[in-house]
Amino acid sequence: MRLLSIETSCDETAVCLIEATGEFGTDFRFEILGDALLSQAALHAQYGGVFPNLAKREHAKNLVPLLEKALKLGEISRTVLDISARTVLGSILQREPELLEQLAPFLETHKRPDIDAIAVTHGPGLEPALWVGVNFAKALSHAWNLPIVAVDHMEGHIVLSMTEGGRLAQFEFPVLSLLISGGHTELVLSREFGAYELVGQTRDDAAGEAFDKAARLLGLPYPGGPEISRLAAEARARGGTPQFSFAPPMLHSKDYDFSFSGLKTEVRRTVEEHAPLSEGMKAQMAWAFEDAVARVLVAKTMRAVEEFGAQTLVVGGGVSANTFIRAELARELARSDTSAKLLIPPPELATDNALMIALAGYFHAAKNEFTDPRNLAANGNLKLAKTL
Ligand code: KG4
Ligand code: ZN
Repeated sequence: MRLLSIETSCDETAVCLIEATGEFGTDFRFEILGDALLSQAALHAQYGGVFPNLAKREHAKNLVPLLEKALKLGEISRTVLDISARTVLGSILQREPELLEQLAPFLETHKRPDIDAIAVTHGPGLEPALWVGVNFAKALSHAWNLPIVAVDHMEGHIVLSMTEGGRLAQFEFPVLSLLISGGHTELVLSREFGAYELVGQTRDDAAGEAFDKAARLLGLPYPGGPEISRLAAEARARGGTPQFSFAPPMLHSKDYDFSFSGLKTEVRRTVEEHAPLSEGMKAQMAWAFEDAVARVLVAKTMRAVEEFGAQTLVVGGGVSANTFIRAELARELARSDTSAKLLIPPPELATDNALMIALAGYFHAAKNEFTDPRNLAANGNLKLAKTL
């Protein structure tokens, strides 16, 4: 099956084309035929975070060029869209006129590609941004007569982490997934493919959001995760003991929930106390901050691995690109009495991309789980896991 996927939930616009066969758990295989991604991070940096309406405009501007790149369409056709096709596309894309302006001539000059289905992220994420991808998928579905699979972005992070080298990694259930991104911090338990139970989640800020907010307080650009991580690594490499120390929030609570807003307040207080900050002091604070976040993430995850007898620990989401958190999770897992296997994506696939949506999309498409485009809507608060 050839599957085209579209991701626009936050500030990455991404399109991917895969060829996939087989069944999850047995003979699943895939190959990437085309892949195109554009990050808007530099644009949003001037606002210190993602600005939803700017994200929406940028997705609308970039989807057609990225589609063209991912499909590598060489053949040129000379069809002219008839009035009724234009009317339908016009109504699907009435809120994205700039997208329609590019899509109509694209469809007129390109043959229908050899694709079997379209997978698109319909949530969770920024709703105005999600709608652009959803409406784009609807327009392509109409123009090329293709079924649509609606994909949960978080399931995309999980399924991507379960693969390696074009196939499913070797692992066993139960699987515990630690999802750490800009919008989410969750522990999710799966006893089989496609089943998700919520073990714990953040009560306020997500881990990635905490990195971004702490970075802002330290005067570092958005996205803050990579910046803090770089400074913290420099400070660690210089050695000695950290000059500051932040308490890992909710470390000793009996549940599996997280909270990061208090940590942000602690960083703010420390910054105010020591302002103006020298570069060395910023690095020291980044070190202490990253330590506190890593400690609580690792401690609660390890406790959940043990309590639920997880055979596999999946880690996914943008924060899983963090070198220190990756190393700490691997170290603690190796030191523990469990024999759980760690599945973590390569850093370049930890942040949002369209491959993860194609893979989760294939999982549903292979089971014939398509969505009627008339009922397809973006849902910023989509929930993957049911409460335990
Ligand atoms: O999964 P993702 O790309 O988008 C969402 O679905 O939210 O995650 C983005 C988040 C941002 O908050 C960013 O600061 C964080 O992931 N991030 C990192 C690192 N790279 C990205 N956080 C810590 N360390 C990193 N190296
Ligand atoms: Zn994500």
